[in-house]
This record gives sequence, C-alpha cells and structure tokens, in this order.
Amino acid sequence: MLLQWILRPCPVFVLALCVLALCVSASEDFDWTKNQRGSFFYGTFPTGFSWGAGSSAYQTEGAWDKDGKGMSIWDVFSHQKGKIFLNDTADHSCEGYYKFKEDIALMKDMKFNHYRFSISWPRILPNGIKNDHINEKGIKYYDNLINTLLDNNITPIVTLYHWDLPQVLEEKYGGWQNVSMVNYFNDFANLCFERFGNRVKYWITFNNPWSSAVEGYETGEHAPGLKLRGTGAYKAAHHMIKAHAKVWHTYDTQWRSKQRGMVGISLSADWGEPVDVTNQRDIEAAERYVQFYLGWFATPVFNGDYPQVMKDYIGRKSAQQGLGTSRLPVFSTQEKSYIKGTCDFLGIGHFTTRYVTQKNYPPGRGSSYFTDRDLAELVDPRWPDPGSEWLYSVPWGFRRMLNFVRSQYGNPMIYVTENGVSEKMRGCTDLCDDWRMQYFKEYINEMLKAVKDGVNVKGYTAWSLLDKFEWDEGYSERFGLYYVDFRNKNKPRYPKASVQYYKRIISSNGFPNQREVESWKRKATETCSSSNQLLAAARRKSQQENKEQAGMPKVWPVHDEV
Ligand code: NOJ
Repeated sequence: MLLQWILRPCPVFVLALCVLALCVSASEDFDWTKNQRGSFFYGTFPTGFSWGAGSSAYQTEGAWDKDGKGMSIWDVFSHQKGKIFLNDTADHSCEGYYKFKEDIALMKDMKFNHYRFSISWPRILPNGIKNDHINEKGIKYYDNLINTLLDNNITPIVTLYHWDLPQVLEEKYGGWQNVSMVNYFNDFANLCFERFGNRVKYWITFNNPWSSAVEGYETGEHAPGLKLRGTGAYKAAHHMIKAHAKVWHTYDTQWRSKQRGMVGISLSADWGEPVDVTNQRDIEAAERYVQFYLGWFATPVFNGDYPQVMKDYIGRKSAQQGLGTSRLPVFSTQEKSYIKGTCDFLGIGHFTTRYVTQKNYPPGRGSSYFTDRDLAELVDPRWPDPGSEWLYSVPWGFRRMLNFVRSQYGNPMIYVTENGVSEKMRGCTDLCDDWRMQYFKEYINEMLKAVKDGVNVKGYTAWSLLDKFEWDEGYSERFGLYYVDFRNKNKPRYPKASVQYYKRIISSNGFPNQREVESWKRKATETCSSSNQLLAAARRKSQQENKEQAGMPKVWPVHDEV
C-alpha cells in the first residue's frame, strides 16, 4: 500500500509500506473484525434520531461591526494582511445576521430536527465582560433566531464558544493564556442561560478547543496568531477545560432544575489507525495520536485528569529539556474532582483519519505539541480528497472513532456536531456535488453501523448548512449543502445536489433498502443541473449590472469563471 507522510516539520514524501489487512483489537471490548471496510449496511436509525446541520457565528453572520457588536480576535486577525487566503475577512460572509429567516426556511424544507449555531460573545458583551455592558441588540438577534427556529419545530443546539473571543480580553489579559478567562467565560455563559435557557436545552461550551489551543496559541495559523510552541496550547487548553467545568457547574446548580437542559462540549476527533496493526509500537503511536487529540479534553471531563500517556510523554520530555516542571499543567486534587463528570453529552466533530506510526523526536530540538507525541501521520493517496488539503474521505475511521468513545468514556450520549466535506473551487462552479453525496452516504452509514454496535449516538449534524468563511482558508474551501454566491452582495443561496440527497436520508431516517438508496443519487443530480443554470444566469446578470454601473459596454462572458 502506498502511503503519504504528512509530517509537519518535514516535507511531504511518499513511502511504500506494507500494511496487513488483518484487523486486530487495540481495546479489549471492541471487535475490529466486525468493522468490514467497504460493506454497506441497509437499515434505519432509532426513532427520534435527530438530523440537522450547523454553522458558527464568525463564519456566517457577517454584520461584524453592526448594532453595537464588539471586535473578536477573528475580526482583528483577519484584517491583518497575510493571515487569510486572499486576505479575505468574514465582515459580510453569508450575511446570516440579516438572512436567518430565509435560512430557517431552507432547514424547514429539509425537515431538520435541529440546527447548531454559535453565539458571538462580543455581539452580546462587546468588551467581553458582563459587568461592563450588555448589548441588548445582540441579545435580540439571538432571541429572534431561537424563536423562529422553535416556531418551525427545529431544536436549537447552541455553542457558546466557537473561537471568537472578545478582542478586549485578548489585549488586556492575553486571552486563553490567562486563567481569568474562566470567570469571564462563566459570566457570559450564565447570561446566556439567563436570557435564552428557557428555550435552549442543548448547550455546548466549547467547539473544538483543540483547534483554538493548537492553532491559536501554538502554530499561530488561527487567531490570535500566537506561536508559543510547546507551552501555549497546553496552557490555553488547561484554562478552557476549567472554564468548561465551571460553566457546567453553574448550569447544574443554578439552572438545571428550572430549565431541564444539558451541557456538553464538542470535541474534534479524527481517527488514528496504526500503519501496521501487528506492530505494537504503531498500535501505541496510534493510540497516542487519539489521546493527544480527543483524549486531551475528553479524559478530564469524563475522568478528571489528562490521559496518562500525555502526562508521561510531556513530563519526560520537559525533564530532558531541563525544566523543573512539566510543560503540561497539572490539575489539583480538588480540581480533578470538580472537572470529572462535567459532560451531559459529548459533541463529536469528525472529518477524517490518519495512519500513524512511531517516530522519535529528540527533546533537544525545541519543543512543540507535535513533537511531544513522537509519531508520524500518513495518508493513503488513494483516499479521495476533493477539498481541504487535510480532509481525506475514510468512512471506516468514523465507526472506529465512535466505538473508541463508547469504550473509553463509558458509552456517553453523543451528538455528532460536525461531519462533512469541502470542495475547492477549481474551474467552473458545480452544484452537482457527487463526492459530497458519496461522503455523506458512507460516513452516515458507518455511524449507523456504530449505532448497531451499541454506540449511543443521538443525532447527526452535517457540516455545514452554507458555504462560509473557512478560517485561514478564507472562502476557498466550501463545506456547504448550499452554495453561497459571495460575489453577489445579496449572498444568494443555491442548493447543491447533496441537499436532495441528505433530505432523503432524513426522510427515510437512514438507508431503507438497496433499490431505493441506489436511486437517490440519480434523482438528486436531476435537479442540480437546473440550479447550475440558474446560478450561471444570475452570475451573468450581476456581472452585467456591475459593468453597466461602471459605464462599460454590454458584452456577455464566453464562459463563467469563478
Ligand atoms: C471544525 C471547525 O469547528 C469548523 O468551524 C470548520 O469549518 C470545520 N472544522 C472544517 O474545517
């Protein structure tokens, strides 16, 4: 099998490796042999299974400086030259702030049970601090959004932190490097419970804290752009875990009996598979990959402390580097029992898988989260990768990941809070997104197999409802079920074929039988060619209008460019 290395510190190269097809178990109670790759399972999800799609505030709302909103670290970061692909910002993005009713109509048409969105902290607390100033206009926006969802029988699943920290808190205190964020975040969450908790029953404290910590404070690819290698991510994560626990306790003691909701956390969890399943070092390296990723956050909230393997590896390397204490912060005994059990449901954001092998990084050559793990990530170049560089379609990894959660954390209630695939816009716009239909079909099928294995998955959130600002990649990677024409100031939405496909999965609550499922793609593709024509015509019209406004002669483009 040909595998491709994706090692951060090294250039990409290709290596031939022999991987045995034999499947063996890494954890005792999960039988890998049940997980036959490639086989399709016809069947349906349990009654009441919840279907929906997601978004986040900074990625979709726009209205970045409207109605009293304060700046977030992403507003400031994206305005700095050279941080974002083509120097784009989310100042306007999908204009979701103005178009939420239209978007809810789309959700209703797809018969969603839930919609996952996030609240922008600086939209309701412009300086980040509750006692400073509450922006009632921001509150009103979320009130309207929540009420319209409920009027349409769509359950809101609300994230409190999807990476948009108020800039004031970053500037004054150093953001998540500072433990004072714990109380500020708790005040913000408490305000949300007070104002929205009579209607919102599913709360997610943090979305993918791994990314906020690693990309925000270690590699600097994300806001606030700090490169505190070997310490920044661990410190940020430590404070986020404490903040999560505090918010869970606030809900538990002050609101739960009245509001009867749940508080969880949404973790990013890509699967790590040993390159050679017969090699103990590879098996351990793959386990480490998952522990440093999902386990970093999941183990504290379920068991009270960091995974032992993180404590061992980072502790040992820190000592070898001559440090008196580990670069991984330590929870006190009291903190451990306070943090343990603070998760009513676990949100899982899953997109892809890696092969993993053991690789030693000598401690002398500087420290970083990546080298602390002593492993190398590889991909099989035959895995489809239609969009984002990092996103290979490996459906079987999803089932393994879900079973890992079941066996490691006592079969918690799971909501899949993100799963989907992007496309890069090369050449002409194409709303017939065959590869996305395939991705959803196969990933959702693996989730169905996991449910049959006994994993407690209660809902699935396709990522994402709309194309939107994809962080440092700007608008170049499109995850949406709906295509958004960002060049048009009205930001019209156009359904991709996957809308029809996902609709059929939802209305069948799974995959009823082979004959029916096999007709879905064809039917979905029938409608997308007319959407393509509509989009092309709208494009020509707006290009013409722009030219006329600019006083240019009337000419038609020969073909559409993106
Ligand atoms: C996870 C992030 O939470 C989300 O905002 C992003 O769009 C997806 N990954 C895809 O990169």
